[in-house]
Amino acid sequence: MSIYQVEGGRTLEGTAIVHGAKNSVLPILAAAVLCPGVSVVHNCPDLSDVRASIAILEHLGCRVERSGDTVTVDASGLTRNDVPDALMREMRSSVIFLGAILARTGAAELSMPGGCELGPRPIDLHLAAIRALGAEIREEGGALHCALPKCGLRGCQIDLSIPSVGATENAMLCACGAAGTTVINNAAREPEIVDLQGFLRALGADVRGAGTSTVTVTGRKTLHGGEHTVMPDRIVAATLLSAVAAAGGEAEILGTDYRQLSTVTAILTEAGCRVRSGEQRITIRRDGPLQGVRPIRTAPYPGFPTDAQPPVMAALCRSRGTTVFVENMFESRYRHVDELCRMGARIRVEGRVAVVCGVERLHGAPLRAADLRGGAALVVAALGAEGVSRIEGLSHIDRGYHGLEETLRGMGAQIRRLEDGGGGLPNL
Ligand code: EPZ
Repeated sequence: MSIYQVEGGRTLEGTAIVHGAKNSVLPILAAAVLCPGVSVVHNCPDLSDVRASIAILEHLGCRVERSGDTVTVDASGLTRNDVPDALMREMRSSVIFLGAILARTGAAELSMPGGCELGPRPIDLHLAAIRALGAEIREEGGALHCALPKCGLRGCQIDLSIPSVGATENAMLCACGAAGTTVINNAAREPEIVDLQGFLRALGADVRGAGTSTVTVTGRKTLHGGEHTVMPDRIVAATLLSAVAAAGGEAEILGTDYRQLSTVTAILTEAGCRVRSGEQRITIRRDGPLQGVRPIRTAPYPGFPTDAQPPVMAALCRSRGTTVFVENMFESRYRHVDELCRMGARIRVEGRVAVVCGVERLHGAPLRAADLRGGAALVVAALGAEGVSRIEGLSHIDRGYHGLEETLRGMGAQIRRLEDGGGGLPNL
């Protein structure tokens, strides 16, 4: 078991480059199933969730090769249409393969994805959208047995009651196999949806409107191989910005479209950071104490991203004043709070509300990550704390961050990944 060992109290300086977006590349890799040819995906981050997706592609009969940050998927010879339980359990968002497998093969067998650390993760909207396109889905024995009627998938109008990112993506992929036109209303508007549309269009699919609440797909186009470069990960960028806010210093985060993070940069500016945005770069400086800010309510894009809530909260633990967080997207997304309190943070949680009473200092402590973004929050807090923190549970962090310790070390952080628990306190 590896751990992070972090010696806080050092400011961060320099430049960081953001890797490709996890939440964009996962649906893109699923979408590669649609194409009876070769897809080339550039800027593909090496994350455990990506490795899980590649394992599913190979299980289905695709040939997948990685060369650096480029992953090539040859889906010409699909041999299966099932995602086994073990692979579904490894990554619950594997449900995103359902629409693409159905569209390509006409049938699909997936085990029900469980909940996760964030609480129940229902897929009712995914299933309703795919049923609206004509699929027959039987939920039995913890598995989804999916088949198509003789007439196959047919375009339709899909009205999402929640602008669900995953349901929007599953509907888009399934609609690519439907005769006629599908209109997805109340679609999620996240930038990752726009990136998925870019990939689908590179394959020859007719998909329009991504980034707005109405996505239109004209299906049954003859798809061909294509190339696409994955967008930078805006949540990794938000995490690095939070790290500078917590530790102090000045750094430049390269690769991110600042317009995708305006809610986060606005909060960090209000808290007292100096943020400058340029083309594909955000510069942040924090030298004075942070201040508490207006209530932060997480919401679907373009609202404040739920995935940025934990790292931003970690930064605001050391501030003058109080900040109220309202987590509207997931039921259990405050699992980092107890760990932050072990470092001296003063946070009260009542249901979806967390009240952070800023303190002057945090102290290092032995910490345990319970989920992906909560784990990143512990790293952010440790960077701004006095003394040494040891963070367990890196398997959560590795799902969405590639080389986080190298990136932070390149900015002057004293952080090491130690194998097998790390033993004593080595010199950092
Ligand atoms: C995606 O999850 C992201 N994951 C999440 O990132 C992100 O937090 C979330 O979107 C919101 O932005 C990936 O893209 C792989 P939703 P997803 O469907 O698609 C409810 C991370 O840390 N809902 O938009 O699962 C759901 O319970 C992860 O990188 C239903 O009720 O999110 C939630 O309350 C965490 N029924 C709300 O909608 C459904 O069928 C939004 O979820 C689907 C969702």
